[in-house]
Amino acid sequence: MQQVYINQLSRHAGEEVTVRGWLYNTRSSGKLMFPQLRDGTGVVQCVVFKKAVAPEVWDALNHLGQESAVTVRGTVRADERAPGGFEIDVADAEVLQRAENYPITPKEHGTEFLMDHRHLWLRSRRQHAILLVRHTIVDAVRDFLNRDGFVLCDTPILTPAACEGTTTLFEVDYFGEEKAYLSQSGQLYNEATAAAFGRVYCFGPTFRAERSKTRRHLTEFWMVEPEMAYATLDDVMNLSERFLSSIAARVLEERPEELKVLERDTSKLEAITPPFPRLHYDEAVRILHEGHERGEMEQRFEWGGDFGSPDETYISGRFDKPVMVHHYPAAVKAFYMQRDPERDELALGVDVLAPEGYGEVIGGGERATSLEFLEEQLRLHELPREAFEWYLDLRRYGSVPHAGFGMGIERCVAWMCGLEHIRETIPFPRMLYRLRP
Ligand code: 4AD
Ligand code: MG
Repeated sequence: MQQVYINQLSRHAGEEVTVRGWLYNTRSSGKLMFPQLRDGTGVVQCVVFKKAVAPEVWDALNHLGQESAVTVRGTVRADERAPGGFEIDVADAEVLQRAENYPITPKEHGTEFLMDHRHLWLRSRRQHAILLVRHTIVDAVRDFLNRDGFVLCDTPILTPAACEGTTTLFEVDYFGEEKAYLSQSGQLYNEATAAAFGRVYCFGPTFRAERSKTRRHLTEFWMVEPEMAYATLDDVMNLSERFLSSIAARVLEERPEELKVLERDTSKLEAITPPFPRLHYDEAVRILHEGHERGEMEQRFEWGGDFGSPDETYISGRFDKPVMVHHYPAAVKAFYMQRDPERDELALGVDVLAPEGYGEVIGGGERATSLEFLEEQLRLHELPREAFEWYLDLRRYGSVPHAGFGMGIERCVAWMCGLEHIRETIPFPRMLYRLRP
């Protein structure tokens, strides 16, 4: 008997097949039963005539609880009214496990309840759609970089030092001999591999001990980070714009059904095409000041500060595409940023702010090339010199302008799917108050 996945049923019209899955929903009317089965690839409605199956099969299917494990054998029949366009006329079925009182029912549940049952919630239609979009985004990211000539060079997770500031480090005891920290970013190692391979990327889990409870922060998230030798801030902006546009195009192409389930306004994704507006930090501040004067921003933004999420939302709200804000004050950025040769107080960094209030999806820029400058920065940031000695070597041996960025996959997924909160973008989110399941 041919075992077939539900999303392949259209190729088997008129044939007898076996589908293996879980009971999604069911209704019956005396002599007829309509169990819906899901198998991970889709949902199909089955039709069971009492007279067409053995009595024990009818009994087994009758009063079966949601999420019971079931296989059915039957004939695939095209039916315009059926969701998906096909039904299965059941000849036989087997119940592998009877589930009772499945906790997630079609009624509304609170977020905490659903998060506590995340291991089961993943089976729901909406969650399923989100994670398929995530799958496509990850695929699009890899394809884009691989085809563009970037080499995958994985970077370590256990590291001896901070990359993105010392306040969000997760500490790990390393055999009682020294402390290790979970990586906040693969960037510093990317700089080493970029000098070895030219253009590289790393893509893996990153960790930030974020004490804030926001809808944009996870404590564990996946970041993709391309890094290019002989490259500048402009190169990073050009790459960001091509990169995000290609991701949006892939999602639109491959996930129309999922975007429909999510009720996503796809015109917002269609708008993500190069070029993206580029905004100097000074201009971004000017927009905030205008907003304040119009009474749309409560507080007057102080030049020199980092943008909070209301600021980002206000700035990006002026555009229907992602906007690239560059030349931030160095004081609010990481120690490794190259300075603007004309204005030393500015860093050659860029944040790409997504529209619709999704905020920063990409952060990056040009890296400092001077050994003396970095030695000084390590001192100023009170970073342990010995842990960075290898990094300084990169400035001793063939230091060149180089640049790159990092994109948090979950922020991208939340944006593409149009989600309120980042917690639904990863199978098992880790946040300030959430380590389980
Ligand atoms: O702006 P960030 O901190 O930049 C870096 O880590 C650089 N070293 C990257 C580089 O240049 N190679 O983080 C980059 C991106 C952010 O724009 C955001 O998308 C995501 O990582 N991100 C988070 N996503 C979820 N939860 C968090 N707590 C995040 N922190 C950063
Ligand atoms: Mg950032």
